[in-house]
Amino acid sequence: MPVITQRVIDAYDQPSPLMTPGVIAPGVLVPAGVSQNPAAKAVAGSVGVLPAHVAIIMDGNGRWAKSRGLPRVAGHREGARAVRRLVEAAIRSGVSWLTIYAFSSENWRRPAGEILDLTGLLRRYLRTEIEELKRSGVRIRFIGDRARFDRDIQADLAAAESDTVGNSKLNLTIALSYGARAEIAAAARAAASAICAGRLDADDLGETVFESFLATAGMPDPDLIIRTSGEQRLSNFLLWQAAYAELVFLDVLWPDFDEAHFTAALAEFSRRERRFGASGS
Ligand code: FPP
Repeated sequence: MPVITQRVIDAYDQPSPLMTPGVIAPGVLVPAGVSQNPAAKAVAGSVGVLPAHVAIIMDGNGRWAKSRGLPRVAGHREGARAVRRLVEAAIRSGVSWLTIYAFSSENWRRPAGEILDLTGLLRRYLRTEIEELKRSGVRIRFIGDRARFDRDIQADLAAAESDTVGNSKLNLTIALSYGARAEIAAAARAAASAICAGRLDADDLGETVFESFLATAGMPDPDLIIRTSGEQRLSNFLLWQAAYAELVFLDVLWPDFDEAHFTAALAEFSRRERRFGASGS
């Protein structure tokens, strides 16, 4: 059974270690990060806070390219530039956790040419951006079925994770070949085999223990999920973890996403009243 570390348990019972000062707009100081304790989150949410964890569904690359008469790959290339802008904006904002949906398990159904373009972009991203991410204090992780990628990409993913393991300024998680239903099914399989092997008592399999089998074990749940391109759905992204996330849908195609959009989404989050099932103030 995966060890439920004291750090994870503490995150549920005490003020989050992620609480560091941040700014939501120039000159306006707010406490960044919210405790994983739902009651504490509710209090913090009512005074307006920076989310500890922002997750983003980057959508609209194809439409961006089409509207310019360009091939889809041009949209993905511009989308990769937007990822760079996003990471810089996230660091400046004080957000501690950022998770981006770069390739879904369903994306493998796209034409072979587009998959080649996307995996080629990923390869280039891993080889060109990692040094900068390392210098900027970014810790990088990947979630999803990495075994479906070519071996050289799998090696680059592992190297990116181990090269940045000491960083803590921003925790960047890139979802690749990721699907939430597959993640939950894999967690259920792992929990079942732990029970069969006698390493876990079925009666102990509550929400917190189950989360320790997910790909996101040890990470806080996303407080804010942003989707670009005007579509309003989660598309199999972080379904378990999104239980209490605030959703913000932006009418901008991903390649046009910039710091102003990110700041606007943070401002929208700060205006939301988060109650986590409790009654309002
Ligand atoms: C959705 O747009 C976007 C994707 C499926 C790929 C996302 C990839 C990137 C942003 C660039 C690569 C990122 C990294 C980290 C290397 P879509 O193609 O579904 O657009 P559409 O809905 O307009 O067709």
